[in-house]
Amino acid sequence: MNILNGRIKILLILLLLSCYNLSFSNEVHSLTDTLIKGSALIDTDGKPVNAHGAGMLYHKGVYYLFGEVKKGKTWLVPDQQWEDFRVPAGGVSCYSSTDLKHWKNRGVVLKPTTNNPGYDLDTGRVIERPKVIYNERTKKFVMWMHIDKNDYSYSRGGVAISDNPFGPYQYLGSVAPNHQMLRDMTLFKDDDGKAYLIYSSENNNTMHVCLLSDDYLTPTKTYTRILEDKGRESPAIFKNKGKYFLITSGCTGWSPNAASYAVADQIMGPWAARENPCKGPNAEVSFFSQGAFVLPVVNKPDTFIFMADRWNKTDLEKSGYLWLPIRIINDKIEIHNIDGR
Ligand code: DGJ
Repeated sequence: MNILNGRIKILLILLLLSCYNLSFSNEVHSLTDTLIKGSALIDTDGKPVNAHGAGMLYHKGVYYLFGEVKKGKTWLVPDQQWEDFRVPAGGVSCYSSTDLKHWKNRGVVLKPTTNNPGYDLDTGRVIERPKVIYNERTKKFVMWMHIDKNDYSYSRGGVAISDNPFGPYQYLGSVAPNHQMLRDMTLFKDDDGKAYLIYSSENNNTMHVCLLSDDYLTPTKTYTRILEDKGRESPAIFKNKGKYFLITSGCTGWSPNAASYAVADQIMGPWAARENPCKGPNAEVSFFSQGAFVLPVVNKPDTFIFMADRWNKTDLEKSGYLWLPIRIINDKIEIHNIDGR
């Protein structure tokens, strides 16, 4: 009798688990349906969305997607030790949507310049991983991005502001926070209104988390070194139930590698390094993608989307995207390649 009860209990648990998985997957499908098929994302004009290394801002009922404009012929920078494929820096694009499915092109909101090789926004430079947050005090939309030279030796954070989420953004200049390198980066605004820059530093060996000034325009002296000597890039951070999660990639240029993540109770650390959150076939190359951002889906508690790029390194303009749900199990996360996209 007891054995039977035990078996029934196990069956019930399995049934509950499979219902949870099914509803989770349905929920996520309704979100990601037309969003991303592991390749092109099409805007409302029927054109491919050109917003790579993207970030997302939610403001007054609208999602704004910002990303790198990659347009033109891809070329290989000579005399580099690694596959330094480049396209002209096309500035930062913006798309808006109210349903995460239909994306309206709002144009290039931070425009590059030409024939000005010494200027940060020249098409001959690198403008990557733009992220935007809103400052309630100054009423400005603040964009931070990675600014570099073709050989990635400049390693600075650029900042721009606008009165509107959809720009135009006015470029204010770039900075090496606390005289440290800044390459792949993201931006995070916490519940208390404080904002942080998180970036690969020290030649990509160690990440830094740096508190921004109250107007979000300047890095403060308050910063911490995390994931020391772990060689991580493409930081994508989110917070759930008081815990911070940071997903990163390894450093293999435009080629995919295994992601990993870290968890913290406080953004300044300590951060506990964890394994690859990607599970299943091709998890070791993050399903041929590299993270850019984690989107908290508004009004859907515990629902986060891992937004990643699928780089096409020899034709960067043709790079695609992969957006996948994050499964949170207490302080652990998993990313599954739903539908094997
Ligand atoms: C990997 C970074 O994550 C990308 O943003 C870009 O900087 C490439 N490296 C350049 O190779």
